[in-house]
This record gives sequence, structure tokens and C-alpha cells, in this order.
Amino acid sequence: MASYDVIVIGSGPGGYVAAIRCAQLGLKTACVEGRETLGGTCLNVGCIPSKALLHASHMLHEAEHNFAAMGLKGKSPSVDWKQMLSYKDETIGQNTKGIEFLFKKNKIDWLKGWGSIPEAGRVKVGDDTHEAKNIIIATGSEVSTLPGVEIDEKTVVSSTGALELPKVPKKLVVIGAGVIGLELGSVYSRLGSDVTVVEYLDHVTPGMDGEVQKNFHKLLKKQGLNFIMGAAVQGVEAMKTKAKVTYKLRKDDSEETLDADVVLVATGRKPFTDGLGLDSLGVEMTERGQIKTDDHWQTNVKGVYAIGDCISGPMLAHKAEDEGMAAACVIAGQHGHVNYGVIPSVIYTHPEVAAVGKTEEQLKEEGRAYKAGKFSFMGNGRAKANFAADGFVKILADKETDRILGAHIIGPMAGDLIHEICVAMEFGAAAEDVALTCHAHPTYSEAVREAALACGDGPIHS
Ligand code: NAI
Repeated sequence: MASYDVIVIGSGPGGYVAAIRCAQLGLKTACVEGRETLGGTCLNVGCIPSKALLHASHMLHEAEHNFAAMGLKGKSPSVDWKQMLSYKDETIGQNTKGIEFLFKKNKIDWLKGWGSIPEAGRVKVGDDTHEAKNIIIATGSEVSTLPGVEIDEKTVVSSTGALELPKVPKKLVVIGAGVIGLELGSVYSRLGSDVTVVEYLDHVTPGMDGEVQKNFHKLLKKQGLNFIMGAAVQGVEAMKTKAKVTYKLRKDDSEETLDADVVLVATGRKPFTDGLGLDSLGVEMTERGQIKTDDHWQTNVKGVYAIGDCISGPMLAHKAEDEGMAAACVIAGQHGHVNYGVIPSVIYTHPEVAAVGKTEEQLKEEGRAYKAGKFSFMGNGRAKANFAADGFVKILADKETDRILGAHIIGPMAGDLIHEICVAMEFGAAAEDVALTCHAHPTYSEAVREAALACGDGPIHS
């Protein structure tokens, strides 16, 4: 029986980051992972592979739509799907091997297998039981499907199966206009699929700022994605190579059907805690099946911590990473800190969508006096040169103090631009602080500055 200061269960972005930080803080650390490779959902079947396909399909879109205008003539590239999948797999491999290297570098033992916790201070992996002064559960989440919809990962797929389809489907129906549905829907639409998104609500991307939702929805329609909104999917009938989706329109309860070659179920995810033995250990859970933790990521069982998708909060890799680092600090006797008010969220479509802090709807609901400074990428020279002038930056600031309360960006590199605002918010900055900061010309980031200027005396370029 090996003995450790910390055993982390799960090697996704939450788990592997926690393990590395624990090791860096001088704790003898192991990480349990049952997959063939490290990195969890994010690296193996989530964030990273989807970004590879988004990148490749965006390149195709650029070639088809913008090359000729830039004087780049010739036949558009055709899709070699097998090669595109190899490129995606190669990308996954580089990243998962990178973590293996980091584990070796930090002297972290990879305990291969699925872990369970027979009692506090013990982790069982296969036939071996290991001693652990502290345990961090970082087991992530799994797909949450709908009643009447069975995922076979062939005709009816989750995001996992959608990254491995044997060919680009002619007709793809996506259930759910959330992050996964729109990212993967965009990929296949660009690759030539006829994509229809069926969404229960009347807007896309629940929880996002309303103005961004509207603009984003419009742009996606312009790109060729079809939407059936206000439609509750009732079930999917899967045949060998086809499927039939039945949905009910909320406005009049009428029932309709849609045929598809492939159906992607993207209706959310739920915490994955199966097989850990949390019940017999007596770990308290929330009504939504999340592990309950205190302010220091400790469960009600002393020495057992939990982070990431399996606890409350947004299911985002970077939120899990932050919690992983913070929990490691707490275990090492230091102060662990996560500012839940400043966690960015990004949708990696084209244009990208990014947000941090409060939406206008939330501020209105809170009755907070605020001002909104907005700037369109149409006024940004770099965006115009790059055929990327769709979208805008919106900064929300306190009406009295000018302190930034939130920012919403739809446009080129929005997922990178948002971090300027994250840093500003961490420092408690006012919109004026961003407005008075020199921004290099010509960059997309000037649009952020202009939105900050719009919170004060006004932007220059609109
Ligand atoms: P989601 O929660 O973002 O969206 C699910 C959508 O499905 C909602 O719009 C919901 O109204 C709709 N829906 C639910 N039941 C329905 C029904 N019966 N008929 C029609 N529509 C229905 O979930 P998604 O996209 O599956 O993502 C899961 C999680 O993974 C999210 O927490 C997301 O934040 C995370 N994720 C984040 C990414 C990123 O940060 N770029 C990328 C991929 C996933």
C-alpha cells in the first residue's frame, strides 16, 4: 500500500492542475485516471478536439468565402475528413502526452484505473488500496440526455460521438442551442452538412446577455444554420443509418418531426460521481447531484475535497483549474482563492462569443444603476481588413462609480479579448481605467478600449 499526502481522482483540467500544484507545494501526490490517456473530457473528447475541428472548418470557410476577395484565387480546398480527424487526434495526443510529461516532471504517480473511496483516507484503484491524507475528487461531468432519447454514439450522438463520425452527415439535427450544440453545429455546417438546431427556449445560449444572444442567433442563421425555437424534443427514433426527431412547439403544442442522418444531443451535462462510493462514505450532495463543498472545497467528510464540474458552479475547464489550484493551496496550509464573479465564458464559434461578470438582464433584475458602453467591430480597422467586422464589445459599468460590472463580446478573438476585462475586474478597475490605457493600433483590442470610452465621453470611431 502506497501512502500519499494527496490523491486526486480524475485527471481533467481540474484534477491534473490540482495534482501539479499539490506536488509543487511539496506534497506527495498521485492522480487516479481510468482512461488510456490523461486530460479528462476536455483534452480527450471535449474542448481540445472540438477546437481543432472548429479551426480546420473555419479555414475552409475562409477559403470558400474570403480568399477570392483578397486576391487568393484557385479552387477551394475539399474536405479530407479522415485527415481532419487525424489532425484532431494528433492535437489530442500532443496535449495528453504533455500532461504525462508534467506528471513525471513533478513526480506525480499516475494510478491507472477507476478510483473509489472506501473510507476517508483511502483510495481504491483496481485491487490496490492507497493511503491518502487528503483526497480531491475531480471526476467531472457526463452527458445528460433527455427522456426518450437514447445515445448510441452512432446515429444519435453526444459531443463525444460527434467528434468521431465516420463521415460528414448530410443532415444533422442538433438538440439544444447551448455551447456544444452551436460549436459542433458550426463545424458541420461549414463542412457542408445541412444543420438544424432544435431549441426549447426562444433564444440561443441560455444565461448569456440578451443583446449578444440576438446578434449571435442572427449571425448563425446568416451562416446557414437552421433553427427551430421554442420546441421541446419529445424523443428520437433511431434507425440503422437515420433518425427521426419528434418535437412539440411550445406556442401551440403541435407535434412535428424531423429526419436526420445524425442527431447530436447537446442538452447539458451532469456531475459524474458513479462508482466513487460517495453514498456509503456519507458525502452530502445537492439536489442536482453535485457534491456539496464548503468555502474551502472540502466536503462534509474531513480530508475529502471536490472541485470542477462535479460541484456547483459553471461547468467550465478553467473554473475547475482555478478550484484545483485553490484546493491544493488549502491542503498545503495556504490561502486558496477563486473569484467566482470573474470567470469568463467563451463560445468558440466564428465570431467568438465571450462574457464575464453580470449581464444587462441580471443588473436590471438587481435594480442596479448601470451604464452600457458599446462599440461595433465595424469601427475597428483591423477587423474590417480581416473580414471580421461582425459583432461588438459591450462593457457594463456602475453608473455612479464607473466600476466595471461585466463585459460581453461577440466578434473576432472575443475569447482572448475578454481577459483584459477580467484583469480589470480583478483589480476593481473603472471603465475609465481601460479607456485611459494605451492600446496598440491596429488591434481588435482597440474595440474594447472604445467600449470603455463609450462608458464615458464617447468612443472615437463611431
Ligand atoms: P447547455 O446547458 O449549454 O445548453 C443546453 C441547451 O439545450 C439549452 O439551451 C436548453 O434549453 C436546451 N434543451 C434542453 N432540453 C431540451 C429539449 N427537450 N428540447 C430542445 N432543447 C432542449 O449544454 P451543452 O451545450 O450540452 O453544454 C454542456 C456543458 O458543457 C455546459 O455547462 C457548457 O458550459 C460546457 N461546455 C463549455 C464549452 C465552452 O466553454 N466553450 C464548450 C462545450 C461545453
